[in-house]
Amino acid sequence: MSAPKKLWIKTYGCQMNVYDSERMASALAAAGYEQGDTPDDADLVILNTCHIREKAAEKVYSDLGRLKPLRAAKAAAGGRMQIAVAGCVAQAEGDEIMRRQPVVDMVVGPQAYHRLPAMAERVARGDGPQIDTEFPQEDKFDHLPEAPRARRAPAAFLTVQEGCDKFCAFCVVPYTRGAEVSRPAARILSEARGLVGRGVVEITLLGQNVNAWHGEGPDGGGWGLGELVRALATIEGLERIRYTTSHPNDMDEGLIAAHAEVGKLMPYLHLPVQSGSDRILKAMNRRHTAEDYCRLVERIRAARPDIALSGDFIVGFPGETDQDFEDTMTLVRSVGYASAYSFKYSARPGTPAAEESDQVPEAVKAERLARLQALLAEQQTAFQASCVGREMPVLIEKPGRHAGQMVGRSPWLQAVHLAADASLLGRIVPVAIETTGPNSLAGRLVG
Ligand code: SAH
Ligand code: SF4
Ligand code: F3S
Repeated sequence: MSAPKKLWIKTYGCQMNVYDSERMASALAAAGYEQGDTPDDADLVILNTCHIREKAAEKVYSDLGRLKPLRAAKAAAGGRMQIAVAGCVAQAEGDEIMRRQPVVDMVVGPQAYHRLPAMAERVARGDGPQIDTEFPQEDKFDHLPEAPRARRAPAAFLTVQEGCDKFCAFCVVPYTRGAEVSRPAARILSEARGLVGRGVVEITLLGQNVNAWHGEGPDGGGWGLGELVRALATIEGLERIRYTTSHPNDMDEGLIAAHAEVGKLMPYLHLPVQSGSDRILKAMNRRHTAEDYCRLVERIRAARPDIALSGDFIVGFPGETDQDFEDTMTLVRSVGYASAYSFKYSARPGTPAAEESDQVPEAVKAERLARLQALLAEQQTAFQASCVGREMPVLIEKPGRHAGQMVGRSPWLQAVHLAADASLLGRIVPVAIETTGPNSLAGRLVG
């Protein structure tokens, strides 16, 4: 048998990319590639990229620059380093990357990963650069092997839908990931059972628009995400279910009821609103008002009173006035977030908002972002502080930095540090919370 070829993957962007990278690694493992921790001496390097904001997209070009000498060193030693650009930048600017970056051998969009081993083969044969950014009819998941759980992490991602039909005016996702496609319930359930069989106790369902998931249940009826969650909850050994990311307009009754009735569904929800100004929400094509969102939050909290909310915000969308921004601050104060992500609006080529003439000056965006982030940080600190003195079930996920320490996850997605034995890995144990940091908690095992 020939020695394994070395593979290095760098993943940018969202959790869907993390999941896809694992899938690519397992497809390539079948073709004789072994994943390593550094790009040095790699036979194949994959940059799995993100196009959501300008900064994210630019990273690809600087990373390609850094790979150049490594590629040359490999060639000098008589080897060949293939470089592939995958993900959303590949989908959005594939042709341009090929033209501008001669070190790139392959450009492969998010729907074509199952064809990666064959593409690498063609490059090796001397067939020249390969580009595949089609949206094929076939389901890539039918052809991509499930990721081996070599690291035995007790928490796993499971992609249930991809793409988006919402076309928010600022966003590239509908272009880079294509139209909304839901995977069949039966396949999701069987993948989940497989994960649980390999020691997974917590599954996070993923989708660019995860609560838009819809499918046919085994009974032939139409299922929404709420039904899927209920079906997953019947899997013995699966203890925790999460899902991300959701759109407010797709939070239907069935899903809200699942939050009330399914104990395994964790009390934490990422529900981006983007802005608190109706004028801006309309311009963003979000199709909901600030009040719609607040009322929805009330219904979710009525169903699951201990639910913690997280969100995404964009400041400085074209035309955003001081008053619009104040409306966002008001919404944040009234909802109260346990954590949140906030961004300066970044004009993305090909999206409608990028064409608007009333772009907000950089300095104004920076000032608004600082104010919003200060408020969100205050809320996060308050939420963290409210956990001190409480006892909560913690899923032990991995060893901590020091001997005798382990790190786990609270129901609200916080990292929890505690003194514990490694034999507790994968177990859910009661922990008394004693102190907090900005992003994590620390406590001691109870009993
Ligand atoms: N599908 C999810 C998230 C998509 S991208 C949703 O609908 O909420 C993640 C976040 O990036 C978005 O929620 C948004 O806050 C941010 N984002 C997307 N496009 C952006 C842009 N052009 N500039 C700044 N932030 C952006
Ligand atoms: Fe982008 Fe909007 Fe779709 Fe989310 S819902 S992925 S923000 S277009
Ligand atoms: Fe980025 Fe694509 Fe995810 S643009 S956020 S990697 S869907």
